[in-house]
Amino acid sequence: MEYKKLVEQAIIASKNAYCVVSNYKVGAALLAKNGKVYLGCNIENSACSVTNCAERTAFFNAISDGEKEFEAIAIVGGLYGDFSKICPPCGVCRQVMNEFCDEDFKIILGKKDGEYEEHLLKNLFPLGFVLQG
Ligand code: THU
Repeated sequence: MEYKKLVEQAIIASKNAYCVVSNYKVGAALLAKNGKVYLGCNIENSACSVTNCAERTAFFNAISDGEKEFEAIAIVGGLYGDFSKICPPCGVCRQVMNEFCDEDFKIILGKKDGEYEEHLLKNLFPLGFVLQG
C-alpha cells in the first residue's frame, strides 16, 4: 500500500479522537504485513493519566484481532485537527512498537494534504528494552 493512502487512513481515524482534555486530535493507521489496516485514535479521560494514545489504540486493536506482523504505521496529530505539523510518537508508544515490530518497521509522520516523513523505528528508538530469555 502507498504510504500516502495510509496517511489518509490516519486522518480518517483521527475523526473519532476523544480529546476533551487537550483538544489535540491524533489518528493512526497501522499496516500489517498481510495488507490489513487497523485504525486508532487517542482516547482521553477526565483523569488525565488514563489517556491512551492513537498509536497504542491501533496496536491493541490489531493484537486483539490476532495480528502478529507489521510493516508500518502512519500518524497524524494536531490541535483541533490541524495537521500542518508532524506528530512524532511518544516514548511509551515507541516501546509498544518495539515489542511487536522488527527493525524495518516504518513510522510515517503525516501532515495534511498527504505529505509525510518516513522513519525507521530502529532509528527513533535505539536500544529498546525486550525481555531476554
Ligand atoms: N497523543 C497521541 O495520541 N499520540 C502520541 O504519540 C502523542 C500524544 C495524544 C495523547 C493526548 O490525548 C494528546 O495527544 C495530547 O497529549
